[in-house]
Amino acid sequence: MDYQQSVAMAPAGWTHFRIGDLDRLPPAVKAREMARVPASEREQLANGDSDAIQRLLRASFWTFVYHLEPDLWDRLSRAEPIRPELLAALPETVHRALDVGAGSGRLTEHLLGRSRQVVAVEPSLALAGFLHQRLPAATVVAGWAEALPVRDRSFQLTAAAGSFGPDPAVLQELHRVTEVGGVIALISPESPEWFEARGWQRLSAPHGTAPPHEPWIDAFFGPPEPLHELVMTRVTAPSSGTYR
Ligand SMILES: C[S@@+](CC[C@H](N)C(=O)[O-])C[C@H]1O[C@@H](n2cnc3c(N)ncnc32)[C@H](O)[C@@H]1O
Repeated sequence: MDYQQSVAMAPAGWTHFRIGDLDRLPPAVKAREMARVPASEREQLANGDSDAIQRLLRASFWTFVYHLEPDLWDRLSRAEPIRPELLAALPETVHRALDVGAGSGRLTEHLLGRSRQVVAVEPSLALAGFLHQRLPAATVVAGWAEALPVRDRSFQLTAAAGSFGPDPAVLQELHRVTEVGGVIALISPESPEWFEARGWQRLSAPHGTAPPHEPWIDAFFGPPEPLHELVMTRVTAPSSGTYR
């Protein structure tokens, strides 16, 4: 999602954050966040323009949540479970599974049931800590999807939930780390139609209703919705540049 889309789609909870919160992010995370800011916005930010600051806070909303308010994310993710139809469509048993952008473990939990070894990659140390405590059987590794800290072709199932869209750098990495014959599965990716148009199998489950949850979740994040889309592809050849 680009900067303007992130600004436009920020949930109401963005007002919870202040510009000083950027300095509370780990330096590498702050640097990534600032690198997203378009050149046209930078001068306005440097001049303290309040509209530009507001746009930056809106665009950074999810990063603030993952890194500074992990408990809020965790509570939202419980109100948005993965629809069982999607879980049923994943490969039943694999030797090694990877969860990329694993958060506090919403998908990891289900991978553990179908894989002898599960590796969870997550850049938010706070969320990785939740995951480690909750699911000690998973190996939790800090890292980014654009440069996964795992070897080539080492997983039969490479999965992510709610995390990525048609980003060539990420898709190349998912492909690189998946064995030939293995499956890449993205649950509720951005732009599922992009994947479908390129031959990925798409499964759209009924939206379903969110389980009972605390009312503040609606006010802060908007109405929770269970994850109901899956796109999946089988890797037929070692990594190639086919994702542009
Ligand atoms: C919407 S949450 C989903 C978390 C988890 N997959 C789940 O379903 O509950 C997105 C997650 O991706 C992580 N993330 C964001 N950008 C990432 C990147 N470039 N590489 C890896 N993880 C990333 C965030 O820290 C966050 O935990």
